[in-house]
Amino acid sequence: MNQPLHHRRIRTSNLKGWTSNTLNELSELFVKECARSPQTALDIGAAHGIATIPALAAGARLVANDSSAEHLDKLKELTPAEFQDRLELLPGRFPRDTKLQAGSLDLAHASNVFHFLTGRQLEQAAAFLEHALRPGGKVFILAATPYMKTFEPFIPTYESRVEQGEPWPGWIENVRDHSTHRLLSNLPKSIHLLDEKVLRRVFENSGFHTEQCWYLRRRDLPKSIALDGRENVAYIARKI
Ligand SMILES: C[S@@+](CC[C@H](N)C(=O)[O-])C[C@H]1O[C@@H](n2cnc3c(N)ncnc32)[C@H](O)[C@@H]1O
Repeated sequence: MNQPLHHRRIRTSNLKGWTSNTLNELSELFVKECARSPQTALDIGAAHGIATIPALAAGARLVANDSSAEHLDKLKELTPAEFQDRLELLPGRFPRDTKLQAGSLDLAHASNVFHFLTGRQLEQAAAFLEHALRPGGKVFILAATPYMKTFEPFIPTYESRVEQGEPWPGWIENVRDHSTHRLLSNLPKSIHLLDEKVLRRVFENSGFHTEQCWYLRRRDLPKSIALDGRENVAYIARKI
C-alpha cells in the first residue's frame, strides 16, 4: 500500500482530535481484509476517508459513518468517481443515531473514535455491531490508551483504578484536570482511554471472539505525544 512520505495531522472540525494522511497499522489490516473477497464494511468515525477510500479501492462496498456531516461531505468529494456507486454515507453519532439491518455487514472498522464513547456507549456499540455483522464478520478497532505523553500525569490514577478492578479505568471526566499538553486544544472535555482488558470484556460479553489484541505506537502518531510504545491499542474480533 502506498503511504505518504510525510505523516500529516488534519484537524477535525468538531473537537474530535485529528485524522491523518497515513493509513495506520490496524486500518491497513482492515483494508487487506476488504481485498480478500467482496465485502460490505462500515467505517465508524470515517472523517475524510483515510481508511474508507483505500477500502473502496480494495473492492469493498463501504458505509461511511461520522457524527460530522462536514467530514462526510469532504469524504464524498475526495472519493474517486469510479468508487462512488459503492459508497453510502451514514451521518450521525454512533451508535445512538445509526441504524443498519441485522447481518448486513461483513466488517466494521473504528480507528481513533471509540475513545470518544463512554463505557455505556461502548457496550451499546458492541451490541450494535453484534446485530449488524453476519456470523463470522469482524471488527477492527484502534483507540488511544493512557500511555501517551498527553496523559502521563493520569497514568498513576489509571493504574490504581486497574488494581482496584474498576470497570472503566481510563475514563477522564475533565482532561484539563490531568494535563496541560498543547494537543488537548482539539479534544473534547472528557475522554475514555482504552486498554486490552476493557475491549476484550466488552466485545466478548457481546458475542465476539477476540482474534488479536496488541499495543503499538501507530506509525503516524505525533512525536510530541509518544511515550513508551503503548500509545494505542489495536483489537480484532470475530462475531461468533
Ligand atoms: C480522530 S478522528 C479519526 C478519523 C479516522 N478514523 C482516522 O483514523 O484518522 C475521529 C472521527 O470520529 C468522528 N466521531 C467522533 N465521535 C463519533 C461518534 N460517536 N459517532 C460517529 N463519529 C464520531 C469525528 O467526527 C472524527 O471525524
